[in-house]
Amino acid sequence: MSKPIISPSLLSANFLNLQKDLEIINKSEADWLHIDIMDGVFVPNISFGFPVLQYVAQACTKPLDVHLMIVQPEKFIKEVKGLGSMMMNVHYETCTHLHRVIQQIKDAGMQAGVTLNPATPVCVLKDIITELDMVLLMSVNPGFGGQKFIPQTLNKVKELRALIEETGAHALIEVDGGVNLETGKLLVEAGADALVAGNAVFKAPDMLQMISDLKNL
Ligand code: DX5
Ligand code: ZN
Repeated sequence: MSKPIISPSLLSANFLNLQKDLEIINKSEADWLHIDIMDGVFVPNISFGFPVLQYVAQACTKPLDVHLMIVQPEKFIKEVKGLGSMMMNVHYETCTHLHRVIQQIKDAGMQAGVTLNPATPVCVLKDIITELDMVLLMSVNPGFGGQKFIPQTLNKVKELRALIEETGAHALIEVDGGVNLETGKLLVEAGADALVAGNAVFKAPDMLQMISDLKNL
């Protein structure tokens, strides 16, 4: 079993001292930085927007893994690319023309990911899986950090792994919500490639140690 990709979620950082938290992330074993953009429409919360993220992008040396919890995410492809993002994840539930949005993200020069809410089954990706660089499975209902992991996600990871193998797709499997040392281990065993962790990392007494522990589950 190879080591998981670790993507700490900025949502749980100290917004009064982002620079300090980002310096820790930069020198940690984290692979990416996960960025949650919310609109108060698709999800019942608002996080941060591009004026803040421009500074985050300047201060962070890790590739940006951007998760848009907004309606009409295609409107912001240029802005997400403008941050220098590696990956843009859009929710399946927000895209009527998902195939078109995925092509637009790729045409902009980013990797393309599709995110599924907990109640959205893996099978909806059957006809697009080979186009994707990543599938992000939500293991909580999106909108807030610090929620409890939904165990059914473990079955979804296995189902998604089977779909990827069956179709010869190359998509990575990332999981987001309630990830800690315990649930992280179960997810990696089930076949997850990448773990997002907000509270587990940013509320840990020693962030560097926690990131290292997640990396070496
Ligand atoms: C929730 C976000 C998550 C969140 C995870 O809507 O997508 O990325 O930051 O936070 P934890 O790891 O605390 O559940
Ligand atoms: Zn997220």
